[in-house]
Amino acid sequence: MDKKIVLLLFTLILNFISLVYTDDSQPSILQLEGFIYDQFPKYNDNFEPATGSLTPGMVLPNIDTTTRVPNLVSLSTSTTVNKNGRMNTPNLYQYFFQSNTGASKTSDSGLNVPMTIKLNLTLDENRGVYVYNNQYFFPIDNQGFDVDSSYKIYSNGSVYHNFHFCLKINSKFTFQGIEVFNFIGDDDVWVFINDYLAIDLGGLHSAASKSVDLTTLTINGQKLVKGTTYNFDFFYCERHTTASTIRIETNLQTFCPTYDYCNVCRGDGSTCCSATLCDDGNPCTDDICPSPETVIASGKTIKDYCQHIPKTCAVIDKCSNNTCSMSTGQCVQQTIPCQSKASQCMTLDKCDATQGCLYTQACTGICNTGVCNSGTCEVKSNSACASELGNDKCKIYSCDPVKGCVSEPLCKQGSNPCIVATCSNGVCGTNTLSASECDCGCEGKLNACEKNNCVNGQCSPLRIDIDDGNACTIDVCNNSTGVVTHDPVTTCTGCMVCNSKTGGCVPTDSLCEDGNECTDNKCVADSSNANYGTCQSSVKSCNTTTNKCLVWNCDSETGCYSTDRVCPDSGKCQVGYCDPDQGCLLKNRTCSSTAYCIVSECDESLGCITYDRRCAADNARCQKGVCVNGTTPTDGKCESVNYDPQPFVCKTAAVVSTAVIAGVTVAGAVALAAFVYGGKKGYDYWKESQNITMSGANNNPLYQSNPNGGENPLFNEDLN
Ligand SMILES: *[C@@H]1O[C@H](CO)[C@@H](O)[C@H](O)[C@H]1NC(C)=O
Ligand SMILES: *[C@@H]1O[C@H](CO)[C@@H](O)[C@H](O)[C@H]1NC(C)=O
Ligand SMILES: *[C@@H]1O[C@H](CO)[C@@H](O)[C@H](O)[C@H]1NC(C)=O
Ligand SMILES: *[C@@H]1O[C@H](CO)[C@@H](O)[C@H](O)[C@H]1NC(C)=O
Ligand SMILES: *[C@@H]1O[C@H](CO)[C@@H](O)[C@H](O)[C@H]1NC(C)=O
Ligand SMILES: *[C@@H]1O[C@H](CO)[C@@H](O)[C@H](O)[C@H]1NC(C)=O
Ligand SMILES: *[C@@H]1O[C@H](CO)[C@@H](O)[C@H](O)[C@H]1NC(C)=O
Ligand SMILES: *[C@@H]1O[C@H](CO)[C@@H](O)[C@H](O)[C@H]1NC(C)=O
Repeated sequence: MDKKIVLLLFTLILNFISLVYTDDSQPSILQLEGFIYDQFPKYNDNFEPATGSLTPGMVLPNIDTTTRVPNLVSLSTSTTVNKNGRMNTPNLYQYFFQSNTGASKTSDSGLNVPMTIKLNLTLDENRGVYVYNNQYFFPIDNQGFDVDSSYKIYSNGSVYHNFHFCLKINSKFTFQGIEVFNFIGDDDVWVFINDYLAIDLGGLHSAASKSVDLTTLTINGQKLVKGTTYNFDFFYCERHTTASTIRIETNLQTFCPTYDYCNVCRGDGSTCCSATLCDDGNPCTDDICPSPETVIASGKTIKDYCQHIPKTCAVIDKCSNNTCSMSTGQCVQQTIPCQSKASQCMTLDKCDATQGCLYTQACTGICNTGVCNSGTCEVKSNSACASELGNDKCKIYSCDPVKGCVSEPLCKQGSNPCIVATCSNGVCGTNTLSASECDCGCEGKLNACEKNNCVNGQCSPLRIDIDDGNACTIDVCNNSTGVVTHDPVTTCTGCMVCNSKTGGCVPTDSLCEDGNECTDNKCVADSSNANYGTCQSSVKSCNTTTNKCLVWNCDSETGCYSTDRVCPDSGKCQVGYCDPDQGCLLKNRTCSSTAYCIVSECDESLGCITYDRRCAADNARCQKGVCVNGTTPTDGKCESVNYDPQPFVCKTAAVVSTAVIAGVTVAGAVALAAFVYGGKKGYDYWKESQNITMSGANNNPLYQSNPNGGENPLFNEDLN
């Protein structure tokens, strides 16, 4: 045997073995995964209304990217499209494609029952399209509401069926450059491609058909780009007896971009998790299922990922707290008692709802320093009065509870008027006057407030010194009794205190202190009475910085404190953050991918999702796109790999002839065996021979290039 042929046979055998391990065949099933919402006419009167007709224009041309559901053009009952489309109660349309299991069993409550559904489209090998054809499309018979047999009241005339449901499929596809999508059925059908309405068969109608050729489809003037991944969203409602038909034909390779931990496409975890499963027995926590994209590690259960969020009770006021009761799970309001501040010489005034506990200051006496020592008001010392009144060493200072600081002479005049008391720098002395100096005829002429004084031998009486040094008192001597009084010259009231030097009333903030760290307290003089002052209290302004990212608060006991501002997200794809100068801002959520062949992107309804990159093939009818990771997360490429076996549409005349040539070249029996073994094996054999002996095949005089350029002449581009 020729060496080449030995090698070929070897490869052939090896290839048979490797076939067991590789699968490059075109998938025979395309699965569409979505949700079905079972509806019941009593709960949603858009179901089983009067018969209608095909009504395009009921929904907006762009899908709602947050809910991934179409929105009605109008929620008014009077628009023509809503009337013609038998949207009797447009407000109940929102429950067509969104679960509403909490609603009551009353008329038009919108109550529905959500379920998951998988539709298997099977490959029509001859035409290279996936087909789903069901002229009795009742996928939820005996399910949903109809688990309770009293709901089984609708039939197609002879047989019970569960009519009245809506189907939603939110998927994606990577455009291969050859796709078409054909639909025939009833009732409402809306198909969105790249978020844009591409099929609009709204309304109640008998089977209607529509095709979309994605290769010519333009959205806002733009054609689809080969290799780009787009959204594909399909909505279908069965709203009326007595038929339910659906026929889908497409070569779109849709896929589900993300599964929840229940393995439901775009699920929210609710099919396998509930608050009951997550219950931690604490009535003061909200038990929440893990977020849908959570990966449950092996050895763990969903329960290990449940979240238990403490219930928050509204803040009512600063005099009470409102906390969750562990026995009932209800918020209970309790008065917060004000603490005693006796040790700070304060007595409780009241609790103010916005400011908290307020106290009154006890150390407000004129002789108090304002300092409190373990519950006792400190009294002004004599030396404090001395420095207040001028520190004359020849005076004795003290504080009088009524008048404040006062003084009297250190050196007292004795009863002998001829011995005059003197004081020099705090030292008392006497000055003995001569008889003539002492009395030059004053005796008997002096009143009780006067003393001897001789000037040039003449009596010139002097007033005795009665000044107490305190400008706030008027110093009076009674001429007949000699009694000296120091009555307050001015009466300062409210929070005003007399200044002993100037004699004026001075506002004194310390008298307004209320023992609350969140108030600023000031004494303010009355505009019409300078001796009277009132306390004015204002909420302390805590914000002293320009930083917009700090939130200031105040605790009546400890004062101002700041916390970091929390900036809320907007939707699932905009993350809130704080800028010190600008405050809260939003930025796009970044979803990072670990490899080129893993796409990570943000989905408005789910947040970050990751899925395997789908590649477009050079010739998508005959090849599949394969993604190859590179060495870095951004580096990689798409390759095209022939389907194996080649789909019928790709089996060209050239293929047959090449195989035959190869077969002839190889010993006849081997080649025959290879073909008999099965079409696929024979085909593999051809593939190998192509790799190894193609040049030989081309050189073979029997070889003819195919006039259809490699396409199967049996294949008709038009899928209809
Ligand atoms: C669809 O196909 C899957 C396998 O791919 C199979 O498990 C499932 O039962 C099929 N569903 C229906 C409704 O035939
Ligand atoms: C009702 O549906 C069944 C299939 O479930 C079908 O065989 C029958 O012909 C239908 N009857 C009518 C009146 O359409
Ligand atoms: C609420 O106030 C009550 C009564 O003063 C107290 O027993 C309780 O600890 C307070 N709860 C909180 C959370 O501060
Ligand atoms: C002086 O004192 C006497 C006796 O106490 C009293 O009667 C008299 O009114 C006083 N004089 C003045 C001016 O205060
Ligand atoms: C007390 O006596 C002085 C003279 O020493 C006199 O000027 C004054 O007016 C007298 N005061 C009264 C209240 O009589
Ligand atoms: C705090 O003060 C700064 C500057 O006056 C201002 O820009 C900022 O918004 C204030 N913050 C709050 C929380 O009021
Ligand atoms: C944020 O995301 C939107 C929508 O995906 C995009 O149009 C916009 O350019 C993004 N902005 C930035 C700063 O990346
Ligand atoms: C690419 O690399 C990622 C991360 O290592 C891996 O999960 C993924 O399966 C790889 N994909 C392919 C097609 O090799």
